[in-house]
Amino acid sequence: MAQALLPVRFCLALVAKMQWKSTWRKKRTARSDRATQMLKLTIAIDGPAGSGKSSLAKRVALLLGYLYLDSGAMYRALALKALRKQISFDDFVALDKLARATHIELQPPTSAQEAAGSKNCVFLDGEEVTQAIRTPEVAQGASRLATIAGVREILVAEQQRAGAGGGVVMEGRDIGTVVFPLADLKIFLEASPEVRADRRWKEHQEKGETMTLAQVVEEVHERDRRDRERKVSPLVRASDAVLVDNTAMDVEQTARLVVMLARERERELSKAAAREA
Ligand code: DC
Repeated sequence: MAQALLPVRFCLALVAKMQWKSTWRKKRTARSDRATQMLKLTIAIDGPAGSGKSSLAKRVALLLGYLYLDSGAMYRALALKALRKQISFDDFVALDKLARATHIELQPPTSAQEAAGSKNCVFLDGEEVTQAIRTPEVAQGASRLATIAGVREILVAEQQRAGAGGGVVMEGRDIGTVVFPLADLKIFLEASPEVRADRRWKEHQEKGETMTLAQVVEEVHERDRRDRERKVSPLVRASDAVLVDNTAMDVEQTARLVVMLARERERELSKAAAREA
């Protein structure tokens, strides 16, 4: 009897060990899956006009293999539609209604558009408006309609949907404070007003637009004032954002600094995930 029981006991022990191993393997896979998911950070980059957010966010996204999203393009696309429809930027009710009836989509640029310096490919109700939204008139309009709470609510919800999966670098004015208040890494980018105006002026010149430096200084100053002083979601540095002043830094130097901060954050998060597992 004992002889007959021995192999059964042995088999039971073997089965238990196999089950334990398979559970352990599953747990280990789940733990590493979780760690991998955790590694897909959400990075928020905020700052005033001309601070170099777009170039930085694009470069960081490329270096990390993340998705780059330009939230300002959404405000610009809506402003373009309002201009085309001749809706006054003082008519908050009509602009709110317009936002609700508009579909804006951001897509990664094609390689040709990328080479030409495009940010995201922007579609307004299905029409591509990537270039059309890059005019001083649209920029001013965007800054004006960005003061309307109802408009912001709609666009913020859209931005949250677009970046929901993580592995994203989103730039704007309120990403670290409103859109992704729990972002894994927040950068507030600054540069002196002179340097910011000079960068914007060069951008206009490259596009063949004839704006004087004085006009650009005025445009940047006006937008700064409106973006920082508006009642809803003004441009402010989130308390947990890292302040990066790139007045004397080029894009590559700034991007390397942000990637270093992102890697550090990834390490912290994966350690925390491993401890939890
Ligand atoms: O980043 P940009 O210059 O393309 O933005 C155009 C305007 O849109 C900017 O003056 C303010 C507004 N904006 C905003 O209020 N919140 C954002 N997250 C992004 C842009």
